[in-house]
Amino acid sequence: SNQTLIAPSILSADFARLADEVAAVKGLPGRGADWLHVDVMDAHFVPNLTLGLPVVQSLLAATDLPVDCHLMIENPDRWAVGYAEAGSYNVTVHVEAADDPVMLAKDLRAAGARAGLAIKPGTPLEPYVEVLKHYDTLLVMSVEPGFGGQEFIGEVLDKVRKARALVDTGHLNLVVEIDGGINTDTIGRAAEAGVDCFVAGSAVYAAEDPAQAVERLRSRVEA
Ligand code: DX5
Ligand code: ZN
Repeated sequence: SNQTLIAPSILSADFARLADEVAAVKGLPGRGADWLHVDVMDAHFVPNLTLGLPVVQSLLAATDLPVDCHLMIENPDRWAVGYAEAGSYNVTVHVEAADDPVMLAKDLRAAGARAGLAIKPGTPLEPYVEVLKHYDTLLVMSVEPGFGGQEFIGEVLDKVRKARALVDTGHLNLVVEIDGGINTDTIGRAAEAGVDCFVAGSAVYAAEDPAQAVERLRSRVEA
């Protein structure tokens, strides 16, 4: 795979101190975070409610990190483009929620963002290979979406391997991202399966030094 990307999820950060929490993964030691992962939940697609476009707009103004919006919402066909227009680097929608994922990818790209497609742990990859030709990112969920701090579901690595093979043979051109339960114990298996971008919430923000936690994760996958 290409360059390793580490994407801390602010879901596990202190929401009253978001700017400080974002700054805490940017800095020394090391390169810091590559993307900032922002989990948008609507209490309908998932049984949890987090934040929406106004907070994302404020975050975009507060950081120069590429913002990676993970929309765990119903009707992304209606809402996702706003996150792209706001200046997000990558906007990921769930295939289980999108009515017309091909049109949505085109709209996201036209609005200036990379387009991401997420699949829940129980959602197969095969039916969406043609759809994924329109996307820049595949987000493989390795927990049921909705909450941080859950246990890694290793079975999803079969889908990562399939996606990796499709990318390596030129059938798809995607960043393969994994989200859920990534920590220093699990990241190596995910990297071996072919993940490019690793989301980590609790493994980063429960740590005493979030920037150091980012580098600890990176050191497990980069020789
Ligand atoms: C869960 C979110 C994740 C979450 C991961 O639905 O999509 O991004 O923050 O948290 P950890 O890394 O603690 O599993
Ligand atoms: Zn996420």
